[in-house]
Amino acid sequence: MTTAKVVLDQDYKIAPVDPKVFGSFVEPLGRCIYSGLYEPGHPKSDKNGFRTDVLEYTKALNLSINRFPGGNYTSTYRWEDSVGCKENRPRRVEIAWQSIEPNQFGINEFADWSKLNGSDIMMTVNLATRGVLEAMDCVEYCNFEKGSYWSDLRIAHGYREPHHFKYWCLTNEIDGRWQIGQTTGSVYGRLARETSKAIKLIDLDIKTVLAGSSAPTQPTFPSFDYEALDEAYDHIDYLSVHQYLSNIKGNTLDYLAKPMVTNQFLEDTVAVIDTVKAKHRSTKKVNISFDEFNTWHTLGSIGRFDHRWETAAPLLEDTYTQLDAVVLGMMFLAILRHCDRVKIACVSELCNCISHIRTRTGGGVWVYPPYYTWLLFSKYARGTSLLPVVKESPKFDSENFTDVPYLDIAAIVEDEGGLNIFAANRSLEEKLPLEIQLRGFENLKVAEHIVLESKNATDTNTEENPNNVKPHSRGNADIQDGKLNAILPKLSWNVIRLQSQKA
Ligand code: AHR
Repeated sequence: MTTAKVVLDQDYKIAPVDPKVFGSFVEPLGRCIYSGLYEPGHPKSDKNGFRTDVLEYTKALNLSINRFPGGNYTSTYRWEDSVGCKENRPRRVEIAWQSIEPNQFGINEFADWSKLNGSDIMMTVNLATRGVLEAMDCVEYCNFEKGSYWSDLRIAHGYREPHHFKYWCLTNEIDGRWQIGQTTGSVYGRLARETSKAIKLIDLDIKTVLAGSSAPTQPTFPSFDYEALDEAYDHIDYLSVHQYLSNIKGNTLDYLAKPMVTNQFLEDTVAVIDTVKAKHRSTKKVNISFDEFNTWHTLGSIGRFDHRWETAAPLLEDTYTQLDAVVLGMMFLAILRHCDRVKIACVSELCNCISHIRTRTGGGVWVYPPYYTWLLFSKYARGTSLLPVVKESPKFDSENFTDVPYLDIAAIVEDEGGLNIFAANRSLEEKLPLEIQLRGFENLKVAEHIVLESKNATDTNTEENPNNVKPHSRGNADIQDGKLNAILPKLSWNVIRLQSQKA
């Protein structure tokens, strides 16, 4: 394989990375919450029923924000079912996931869990089958201090202090034909605008997230987004977009190329937002909330309805591999290269369902290889993103993509001056030599070259063999005369950490 050549210049800064891009998504779906985050009676659960063994893994991710509760779940969500005395909470038919929702883990439980986890909550209101008033009630319950019906009820439920949730999603994926309450961009945009106005009048600190179309592959993208923004532009703060990459057809080269679509999708979304901005002569900058993204192989499978009307059924429990770790890693790189506009990002979801953290009910917890890409991203992508100039990279063609570079790369300058380089090698067979010319960086030395690699693309971890695929620090990156050279093993995800010689 020929050498990939890159320039990293201290002056080519994109933007500071918003801490809210280190987020996730928690939906009462399958075993995400029940027997995931929450399993009363489990030997590792605390007095609240929170699994402390799962918390160890979620805490390590240092998540800033978790979106809750959905998701498709939101379209028939009755938030008030999930508060108050647990014994009195109704069991409901939950149609999005064809389950019975026992409402034992609601808003206040998630607030308690989030405190332990050290993360904030981004709430979602149901505008699919409910309206402005119910959204206002929910905001009053969660954020109003005291002296009103809903705030006093929260206090009566044992929560004297308001939760002060700042970020509110105005429903979810409402252009999707699977969504109860599916509608058009204009109709939704009007309702979202009025809801946003109303809840911001209750709490002036609130920032709202308009739902965009549910995927770049939807026929409604980007017209739905345009129409909704056209109605609501000056009243909302973010546009929500979602994307899942899958290898359903087993076309692995295509799958490895797909993060290029993520790049294009983010650019198209910015174009739509800014078109509406120009049309409205607005001075406001609406940013992107990429609040659901991941890889997902059971996407669209009817197997998700095999457990009708159960609670905590094993829904959407994909097994993730080294291959998925590299693909997810490249989605992170797309976020870093667009961090001037992507200000919130949530890996979907946090536990069990399309997740990299897996539990056994009554048993152990383990993590799949993509957990480590996520962990390394969260640990080392804090700072200011740099625009890497890729001068040369060997390339390949797949069935549906041409000129796919084997190299994918992004870089971060830390506030303390360190430089962290994230690089993926898409090749399934060959190692990739990398040469980076460093401009404007003096006296840097390689502190660590972390590599996530494995013998086979399909390698993974199990409860019995949880450490089969784990990152190591035996990468060979080296700096000589302002040039960094490294070998990126086949199908690998790499973090090269450079620090000042003096450090
Ligand atoms: O994350 C699973 C589902 O994917 C979410 O509920 C929905 O928003 C998306 O379609």
